[in-house]
Amino acid sequence: MEPMENVVILDHPLLKHKISRLRDKHTGTNEFRTLVSEIAALEGYEALRDLPLEDVEVETPIETCMTPMIAGKKLAIVPILRAGLGMVDGLLTLVPTAKVGHIGLYRDPVTHEPHEYYCKLPSPIELRTIVVVDPMLATGGSGVAAVDFIKAHGGKKIKFMCIIAAPEGVKRLHEAHPDVQIYIGNLDRELNENAYICPGLGDAGDRIFGTK
Ligand code: PRP
Ligand code: URA
Repeated sequence: MEPMENVVILDHPLLKHKISRLRDKHTGTNEFRTLVSEIAALEGYEALRDLPLEDVEVETPIETCMTPMIAGKKLAIVPILRAGLGMVDGLLTLVPTAKVGHIGLYRDPVTHEPHEYYCKLPSPIELRTIVVVDPMLATGGSGVAAVDFIKAHGGKKIKFMCIIAAPEGVKRLHEAHPDVQIYIGNLDRELNENAYICPGLGDAGDRIFGTK
């Protein structure tokens, strides 16, 4: 895939190692959940590099100084249900005061197009940096729909963080929303005829929640 502005493929070795553990079909639900959370924290560390800072006055035991702290309204983390829920805790370890919204989408098993069933976002959404999280960016339908909803509710500064992406999904999300910064743990080869990512990790929601 050609490099694209606002698309970042992360390359930290710890991240790559943990993603490989996720792929293994022998990795059970408990370890899978832990890994998803750890990966979200590693990705979040990179994705939040550009959070704005402002100098505030702090009294140390020695003297008073001006020192930087995160500025502005609290971050909004928005998981796409269900599988995105698995990434929330990891991000909250970095930003415990973040607000959490939810967008419920499921892919139609035949058309693979997303259907919305829930949307609740923290207000005022237009003033927050928003991190949409979903482990899988496959066709990109869910990602595009989620960003459409958030923009329709007034969201402006939006980042999208996934663990595994297919080139088709990255292209679709980037073309629909070129202003959205996309952070990817690993770019996989392609989609299969059922719109699953290859080699991928299977159905992320089922593996996180132990359903089938
Ligand atoms: C999965 C995944 C994404 C979506 C990605 O969710 O968690 O939301 O598919 O596919 P796309 O890029 O082709 O839209 P799914 O619809 O299976 O729902 P679930 O999380 O409830 O299992
Ligand atoms: N959703 C998943 O959970 N896995 C895929 O490979 C594609 C979509």
